[in-house]
Amino acid sequence: MNKQILVTGGTGFIGSHTVVELQNNGYDVVIVDNLSNSKIEVLNQIKEITGILPKFEEFDLTDKVKVDAFFKKYSNLEAIIHFAASKAVGESVDKPLMYYNNNLNTLMNIMSCMIEYKVPNLVFSSSCTVYGQPDKLPVTEKTPRKEAESPYGNTKTICEDIIRDTLNAYPELKGIALRYFNPIGAHETAKIGELPLGVPNNLIPFLTQTVAGIRPELSVFGDDYNTPDGSAIRDYIHVVDLAKAHVVAIERLLNDKNKENCEYFNVGTGNGVSVLEIIESFERATGEKVPHKIVARRVGDIEQIYADTTFANEELGWKAESTLDETLLSAWKWQENIGE
Ligand code: UFG
Repeated sequence: MNKQILVTGGTGFIGSHTVVELQNNGYDVVIVDNLSNSKIEVLNQIKEITGILPKFEEFDLTDKVKVDAFFKKYSNLEAIIHFAASKAVGESVDKPLMYYNNNLNTLMNIMSCMIEYKVPNLVFSSSCTVYGQPDKLPVTEKTPRKEAESPYGNTKTICEDIIRDTLNAYPELKGIALRYFNPIGAHETAKIGELPLGVPNNLIPFLTQTVAGIRPELSVFGDDYNTPDGSAIRDYIHVVDLAKAHVVAIERLLNDKNKENCEYFNVGTGNGVSVLEIIESFERATGEKVPHKIVARRVGDIEQIYADTTFANEELGWKAESTLDETLLSAWKWQENIGE
C-alpha cells in the first residue's frame, strides 16, 4: 500500500505543487483545507496533471473536535506536511489575534493528534522571516533568529519553538522545518499557480498582473538600499523546486535518515536577486515590457536576504534547479492562463 501523507493547506499555492510532486512519487495524499484562500477547482487541476484526484476533507484545523474526527478516520497516516496558515504580513499587523489563532492553534491541534494517534513525522512550512535582517549574508541554518517584524513572522518563530519543544518531549516524533525564501512561479502545465485575493502584496503576482494590464504599473519599493542597484534583494525560488524539497524531507523522515529529532533547512536558490533584476529577467524571458516606477521603501521591508543552501544540498541531496528566467516565464504563463 502507498504511504499516506496528510497535506494541510494542500489546495494553496505551495501546497498544491507539493501534492503534485508527492503523487508523482507514489504517495497517497489526503488534503485538509478550509478553502479560505484557495479554490476547490485546484483538486481537478491536480488530477489533470497527475491523473489522481487527491482525497479531500474541508474543515478548519483550529476546530479540535473536527481534527480528532479526522485522525480517527485516517488511521494510516505516516506523515504530515503542515502548510495551512495565514500568510499576509500586512494583514497580520491589523489582525494579530486571527494570525495567532490560525497559525498556532492549527499546529497545536495537529501535534496533539500526532501524539495521540501515533503519526510520527512532521514537515513544517517555516520562513526566512525568522532571520529578520541578518547581520551576515548568506544565512545558514545556524544564523541566529531575530525578533519578528510582524505578528505573521512571530507565528513562524513560535511554531518552530512549539515543534522543537514537543519533539523533545516526545522522542517518538520527528520533524523538519523548511525555511522558505521567496516562492514564485507556477507548474509548467500552467494548471496550478498562485491565486492572490484582491490586490497582490507580493512582487511577482503584482508584476504579472501589471503586464497583463490589470494594474497600471508596478511600484518598485525603494532604490536607495545599500545594494548594487539600490533595490532590495531576495532569494526567489521556483515553487516546483520548493515542492520537491518537501518530498525529500518526507523521504528523510520515513527512512529514519534524520540526524536530530528536529531539523531545519533553508530552502532557497542561494542567489540574491534585486527587484530591478527581476524586472530585467522577466522582460528577457517573456519579451514583455514591465511598466514600473520607483517609489519610497515599503515599511517593514528588509534590505536583503538570501540563503546558504549547503546544508540542504548535502543532507537532503536537494538543490533548486530552475533558472530565474525559467521561473519567471512559468509565472507569466500562469498569468496568461488565468487571464483577468
Ligand atoms: N516589492 C516591490 N513592489 C511590489 C511588491 C514587492 O518592489 O509591488 C519588493 C519588496 O519591497 C521586496 C521584494 O519586492 O523587496 C519582495 O517582496 P514580496 O512582498 O514579494 O516578498 P517579501 O520578501 O516581502 O515577503 C516574503 C513572503 C513573506 C515572508 C517573507 C520572508 O511574502 O510571507 O518573504 O522574508 F515572510
